[in-house]
Amino acid sequence: MPRLADRMVQLTPYVFQSIGWEMAQRRARGEDVVDLGISDPDLAPSPRVVAALAAAAARATSHRYPPYRGASGLRQAVAAWYRRHFDVVLDPEREVWITLGSKEALVHLTLALVNPGDVVLVPDPGYPSYRMAGALFGARTVDVPLSPAPHFLPDLSRLAPGDAAQARVWYVNYPNNPTGAVATPAAMRDWVAFCQRHDTVLVSDLAYAELVYDGRAASVLEIPGAKPWVLESLTWSKGHSLQGWRVGALVGSAELIQAVGRVEANVNAGVFLAIQDAAAEALAHDHPETRARRYRARRDLVVSRLADAGIAIPVPPAAVYCWVPVPGGDGDALARTALAAGVAVAPGSAFGPASRGYIRLSLTHPDAVLARGLDRLAAVWADAREPATLST
Ligand SMILES: Cc1ncc(COP(=O)(O)O)c(C=O)c1O
Repeated sequence: MPRLADRMVQLTPYVFQSIGWEMAQRRARGEDVVDLGISDPDLAPSPRVVAALAAAAARATSHRYPPYRGASGLRQAVAAWYRRHFDVVLDPEREVWITLGSKEALVHLTLALVNPGDVVLVPDPGYPSYRMAGALFGARTVDVPLSPAPHFLPDLSRLAPGDAAQARVWYVNYPNNPTGAVATPAAMRDWVAFCQRHDTVLVSDLAYAELVYDGRAASVLEIPGAKPWVLESLTWSKGHSLQGWRVGALVGSAELIQAVGRVEANVNAGVFLAIQDAAAEALAHDHPETRARRYRARRDLVVSRLADAGIAIPVPPAAVYCWVPVPGGDGDALARTALAAGVAVAPGSAFGPASRGYIRLSLTHPDAVLARGLDRLAAVWADAREPATLST
């Protein structure tokens, strides 16, 4: 048998691949399974943006390798978008790098920034790839718990002083997956101060910047003096529904961008030029707020149907998820029972060890699918509650 690398012990199968595989098995056996687990936006991209892709694909030079750091038109569009949304000035030549979607860039950047044994701070709950990024390259992953009250913000008081001192990278993600929280300016100032004190790179994942329902998404780069410590990640996957196109951007400190770019240029050859043209069109002319209105209505539907089933959660102000504490505190068991009952949900443990007591529901499905899934979930919930009710 060929041997695998030792690091494969750290690398567990990607949670949504496992759930998808199990759903496929069940469907092949004729079972009807509703998927409320993965976030795979169903709302259509803009026809204008799709037309821009088709037109650009037909251009005689589009098949060529793209510039490593991305097409200049798209880098300029990203800088203009930052100016409009956040009043943040970026140099499109040195402070923007176009990526093959944010997932790979968020993992690759640790290659440029951490040595084996360094500490990488990850939120719990948090997007699973942050945790894997550190583990893959021999770093020590340390959880920063997000406190439910009041806003699912990072609780630095629970970090050991030694871990803070060794932290080379800290991932934050607001608007947040999975809680839907948005960050306060005061919290952002604290993060930047922490990174300045400990010489830590703050990696701010803005995947849901365009899907905010109550309040506003802010960039960490709005904090005066933050830029030398910051890398911020954008994606067209959520607000623009272009997740299958694989395009994103890293912005921030020119020095850090050049370092991560050196890794990127060595391991990939950039994004298809026609996709970059269409992504620039999306930033200038698409209207993600129309998609945000639909997700907001779905959020209200899900929150109210959960309430009808006796499940109260705080209304998430952003992103495309409901983060739900489960009776008895075992989200894995509940997710297994729910799948057997015909509804897939994401178990909280996928987002961190302290998040076991939750499940995550994704809003990227039409109302009828959400309603069908929630009916099934309500029945599972009633059963899960029963022992607790009997014992009190
Ligand atoms: C917080 C967060 N960051 C990054 C990503 C990855 O997005 P992309 O499609 O750009 O790789 C996701 C996808 O769900 C996400 O939720």
